[in-house]
Amino acid sequence: MADTMQGLKRSVYCGEVTREMVGQEVVVCGWAQKTRDMGTLVFIDLRDRTGIVQLAFDKNSDPALLKKAGSVRAEYVLMARGRLRIRESVNHEIPTGEVEVYVEELRILAESETPPFAIADGTNVKEELRLKYRYLDLRRPEMQSAIALRHRIVKLARDYYDRNRFLEIETPILIKSTPEGARDYLVPSRVQQGKFYALPQSPQLYKQILMISGFDRYMQIARCFRDEDLRADRQPEFTQIDLEMSFVDEEDVMTVNEGFMKEVFKEILGRDLKTPFRRLKYKDAMEQYGSDKPDTRFDLKLHDLSEVLRNTEFKVFSGAIAAGGSVRGINVKGAAEKLSRKEIDKLTDFVKTYRAKGLAFTRWTHEACSSSYEKFLSPEETAAVRAALGAEEGDLLLIVADAKNSVVFDSLGQLRCHLAKKLELIPEGSFDLLWVTEFPLYEYSEEEGRYVAMHHPFTSPMLEDMDKIESDPGHCRARAYDMVMNGCEVGGGSIRINTPEVQNRMFKALGFTPESIEERFGFLVNAFNYGAPPHGGMAFGLDRLVMLLLGKDSIKEVIAFPKVQNASELMSGCPTEVEDAALNELAIKVELPSED
Ligand code: AMO
Ligand code: AMP
Repeated sequence: MADTMQGLKRSVYCGEVTREMVGQEVVVCGWAQKTRDMGTLVFIDLRDRTGIVQLAFDKNSDPALLKKAGSVRAEYVLMARGRLRIRESVNHEIPTGEVEVYVEELRILAESETPPFAIADGTNVKEELRLKYRYLDLRRPEMQSAIALRHRIVKLARDYYDRNRFLEIETPILIKSTPEGARDYLVPSRVQQGKFYALPQSPQLYKQILMISGFDRYMQIARCFRDEDLRADRQPEFTQIDLEMSFVDEEDVMTVNEGFMKEVFKEILGRDLKTPFRRLKYKDAMEQYGSDKPDTRFDLKLHDLSEVLRNTEFKVFSGAIAAGGSVRGINVKGAAEKLSRKEIDKLTDFVKTYRAKGLAFTRWTHEACSSSYEKFLSPEETAAVRAALGAEEGDLLLIVADAKNSVVFDSLGQLRCHLAKKLELIPEGSFDLLWVTEFPLYEYSEEEGRYVAMHHPFTSPMLEDMDKIESDPGHCRARAYDMVMNGCEVGGGSIRINTPEVQNRMFKALGFTPESIEERFGFLVNAFNYGAPPHGGMAFGLDRLVMLLLGKDSIKEVIAFPKVQNASELMSGCPTEVEDAALNELAIKVELPSED
């Protein structure tokens, strides 16, 4: 039978014993990381969330104690009382490496089976196995510090926004299904059979209502649910640092949130962030970087070649321009020698995954200049393209033409990031933060054959574009802003519509009938009739922020119990089927589509 803790209390965490405490009696507890049993000499590395301390037993120890120490296996839960002393051989790899606990009393509080993988950082364990045994995976120091850092950021957020007079207010988790944006997770009602709640994709409507209610400044660490496909930076369930403010414009919202980031960087990384951050208009972000979340830690900008190629005989180029698209290129400085023909072919395959039809190149090495397209251009056109790209000997020019600008932007935007990684153009440990502003209010959905809100339907148009809501929706800009960090959207928000007239115009432009407006958003539009202050806000993706600060490449690394690609959580095994009785109570019948 396992020992109990009776009569003993922990006096110090393993990682927090110091040289100054030598000679003192200490009580430590934790998990056995490693044991070395040399008969009359036993050492156990004891681990808790703060670190490791060595427990020592020797020939002068009580024989029963020595025997007990020898029986300890990896991941046994132990409690030990003893005197702290200087170690004979110092371990420079751990902060407590100068000292050890010379144990007088050892308790085995729980035994452990041999774990399916070693509890250590840097081991190459399959993600599935890690997530199935997440409780063991979370014992690893790397995971412990990621989760602790996440806590610190949440605490910083609560303190920072509190100091700036924000109130943390909880909004409901069971809400009315909202149609725009991602798919909702639905929760059936038992009391009202046939009816459903939705889980919130964000607290958007409620936080706006709170502004109408006069709370003036709201914040919340809010769990959000979106039934969309998983990616490295996307989970179906994630957390926002969500906030909303009254009587503000874009600059006010951006300034408060820059202040938060400044504090995070100072407290967490000890770095001074320069504020205000750079502002880049959406249009310029697309033109220069091919992305609305540009990674600006390296240059490799896009250049528009359409003007010089408009009348070329080479139809791949002129045809794309004539069809309303463009020809754009990047100059990978000094890369002609670094990338072989074969590797350039791979880049062609890469851009094809972003729907580009091809990748034209000029590889200008010391010996020769080979090009896939210059032979089709006049000498003047070739010279003009080279000039537009600032080409010199040693450079690699890469060009995409397409009838759709979105394809040109997307493929080159992705290509520049791909090349920056491959050619190591990103300075280690560098951070770059900026705001992208003046987003389009609408984007055209080919799928739905109509305009949809790019951010959400409560975002205010820019004042100077108000009359374009109906007449020219494609060119109507929004009072929206995204905070972008190292090529990732860490946060986004907007100034909202605050009058029923504009809100109704917006809904109409999105194709809602008056009935469907009333049915879906009636409560918000009604609330606007009772004095809605000008307001706006934003939300940070907490998981993304922690991921970026730690330099991880997936948000799964900073979420205690994340979901995998098919949206299941591997430790508990959800989602699962439920018993018929439960379904009957909800009046739900499951009919799976047939396999074929
Ligand atoms: P938005 O949809 O842009 O805005 O979300 C805000 C931020 O949340 C993060 N995020 C995600 N993180 C992980 N997994 C996901 N599936 C996921 N989706 C979004 C991103 C993003 O920038 N209510 C508005 C905010 C506002 O207007 O105030 C909203 O939710 O970092
Ligand atoms: P083709 O005449 O189709 O053999 O194309 C000549 C060169 O232009 C090849 O190197 C192609 O890869 C390149 N190319 C073809 N389509 C495109 C495109 N849409 N954008 C850029 N280059 C292209």
